[in-house]
Amino acid sequence: MASQIAGRLARRRANGIFSPVYTTFFGRRFSSTASESNLIRVTLFPGDGIGPEIAESVKQVFKAADVPVEWEEHYVGKEVDPRTQSFLTWESLESVRRNKVGLKGPMATPIGKGHRSLNLTLRKELNLYANVRPCYSLPGYKTKHDDVDLITIRENTEGEYSGLEHQVVRGVVESLKIITRHASLRVAEYAFHYANAHGRERVSAIHKANIMQKTDGLFLKCCREVAEKYPEIKYEEVVIDNCCMMLVKNPSLFDVLVMPNLYGDIISDLCAGLIGGLGLTPSCNIGEGGIALAEAVHGSAPDIAGQNKANPTALLLSGVSMLRHLDLHDKADKIQNAVLNTIAEGKYRTGDLGGKSTTTDFTKAICDHL
Ligand SMILES: NC(=O)c1ccc[n+]([C@@H]2O[C@H](COP(=O)([O-])OP(=O)(O)OC[C@H]3O[C@@H](n4cnc5c(N)ncnc54)[C@H](O)[C@@H]3O)[C@@H](O)[C@H]2O)c1
Repeated sequence: MASQIAGRLARRRANGIFSPVYTTFFGRRFSSTASESNLIRVTLFPGDGIGPEIAESVKQVFKAADVPVEWEEHYVGKEVDPRTQSFLTWESLESVRRNKVGLKGPMATPIGKGHRSLNLTLRKELNLYANVRPCYSLPGYKTKHDDVDLITIRENTEGEYSGLEHQVVRGVVESLKIITRHASLRVAEYAFHYANAHGRERVSAIHKANIMQKTDGLFLKCCREVAEKYPEIKYEEVVIDNCCMMLVKNPSLFDVLVMPNLYGDIISDLCAGLIGGLGLTPSCNIGEGGIALAEAVHGSAPDIAGQNKANPTALLLSGVSMLRHLDLHDKADKIQNAVLNTIAEGKYRTGDLGGKSTTTDFTKAICDHL
């Protein structure tokens, strides 16, 4: 089994599926902050709910694998910081700007509480314009489809998440969906650049331009413009509802998918479901100036928080993406193999994967596989 996984990983690595970020990002060489001890300083947001438990798992695995990083931990504040208008402090944002690389646990967003969402604050303030989510069938973990191998690239800064909502008159509210040429070109460029750099063959733009003719229409126009610069990559446009049906029926029809914000949020969770659930899928947010903030796709899972039940795989694999961004491929391979081997072996699995292991036991099993 282990050699099967190693072979499959090697092929995927060659295809770039496990490297959602580049060490050279649009020509700018990434440089992180190294401390005096030559450790690379990385901002870590453990986050809310199950966040601290899975962040602890990452710290343990990284330590056992001798990864040369030093965590600069930042927690969600107890009061709104007027400089960020959210519970995230200015100092936390500065830490990511300085280190240029970070790992983020899930952050809860209380519904209708009136302050700015923590995730939106990070994306907007750090200009994290693309969220890259690789989704692939895990060797040894059986789901309905065993040939999922796709990348969703979600525009991260505007669309339905612009935060522009107001009451028009009593009983009538309005939410503005903002689509700009600048942000659409930027994410389309990233998607094609990604496909090209990772040996991918097709980019599908996901939209609802038949109804939202101006907003999604502009998004598509930008994708078409960028597609012309990449004639070697097949380009297609798929309406969001049809895309959902096709994904559920035959996910191998897709390769790289690029889409506006809300569609990306929904489609990437759908894709997570195809391979076994939210506990498995990593992501990385790409920002201007070479910033990379890796994060698990899932939320704070309040229903299992504090119970030692959470699956740390998504955050661990997000950490693996971060290590690739730092050019620490040997460490990334080592941790990735240990995680996937542990799942494939099947002896230690958390409840979401049908097992009975605690987060602690699963983490220990991964460390033993290193
Ligand atoms: N990027 C983020 O920080 C992020 C993303 C999504 C949701 N959220 C926030 O998280 C909170 C809870 O959201 P939700 O309940 O809709 O979604 P969720 O992802 O937290 O949970 C959905 C379901 O998946 C399970 N689950 C999620 N991650 C898991 C893991 N690692 N291991 C095992 N099971 C896991 C949960 O137990 C739950 O049953 C909300 O406040 C939401 O705004 C944050």
